[in-house]
Amino acid sequence: MNILKKTEDFCDYMPTLNRMGYMSPSLDNIQASFVKYCKQTPEGLFLDVGCGFGVATVPMAKEGRRIIACDLDSRHLEVLKNQLPLEKRSFVTFMPGHFPNEVEFPENYFDAINLSMVIHFLPFQTIEKALKKIFYNLKEGGKLFITTSSPYQRTLFSFIPDYEKKRGIEEWPGFIPDISAYVPHRAHLLPKENTVFCMHELSRLVSRFNFRGLEATSFSREGIPSDLYLDGREYSGVICEKPRNKAFFSH
Ligand SMILES: C[S@@+](CC[C@H](N)C(=O)[O-])C[C@H]1O[C@@H](n2cnc3c(N)ncnc32)[C@H](O)[C@@H]1O
Repeated sequence: MNILKKTEDFCDYMPTLNRMGYMSPSLDNIQASFVKYCKQTPEGLFLDVGCGFGVATVPMAKEGRRIIACDLDSRHLEVLKNQLPLEKRSFVTFMPGHFPNEVEFPENYFDAINLSMVIHFLPFQTIEKALKKIFYNLKEGGKLFITTSSPYQRTLFSFIPDYEKKRGIEEWPGFIPDISAYVPHRAHLLPKENTVFCMHELSRLVSRFNFRGLEATSFSREGIPSDLYLDGREYSGVICEKPRNKAFFSH
């Protein structure tokens, strides 16, 4: 049985099976940079946190890169596995569970970690715990790739003035206590609370956890539904690294 449903109004976006939003079938620029970096690092070990159906994990496994695919929902991991030819499956370790609460990895373990379209669904304390843990799990010089939804989506149009008032004053200006106030027609596919980020907030967030920012960007997505499209800033992304020089992050 095909458990994946396309929704007509949502173009190619696929709803998650656990009310954790939607997934695009194509890589955005930040995810593409993650995949490119991993392909260029053949001996590396990689982690895809909240991998969903595996838009980033699948091309890496097909190239023979070793990756741990972690997701809250084991049905997502099953979908991911079924996309891989049998001979490529051994490159992926499938890890169901909540990151950072239920899965543990050693210090200095990964060469790069992908955290794509996940943190806008997490409570603040969980985001902070996740970033601390990722910093611990990355090797020095290891890279973190993050993408999130931004406030600049058409459905959030009436939220933007509130957000812009709070920006620069509050720690989490993109906090939305009840997403159904903005997207009542899709609220059943999203967690009630969301926190959207502009690229500057993402940069600030990672620097709070001692990462060194390498790139921050706003972007749109291929096939974005018309009710989300605003002006090309619908999503935000950051690439950062754990500095090699320990003195940089001792405090
Ligand atoms: C919108 S999807 C994004 C999937 C994929 N990263 C992508 O970009 O297509 C969010 C995914 O994160 C997973 N997720 C959410 N919170 C998580 C957590 N705390 N630990 C692990 N996975 C999580 C969800 O189950 C879902 O598959």
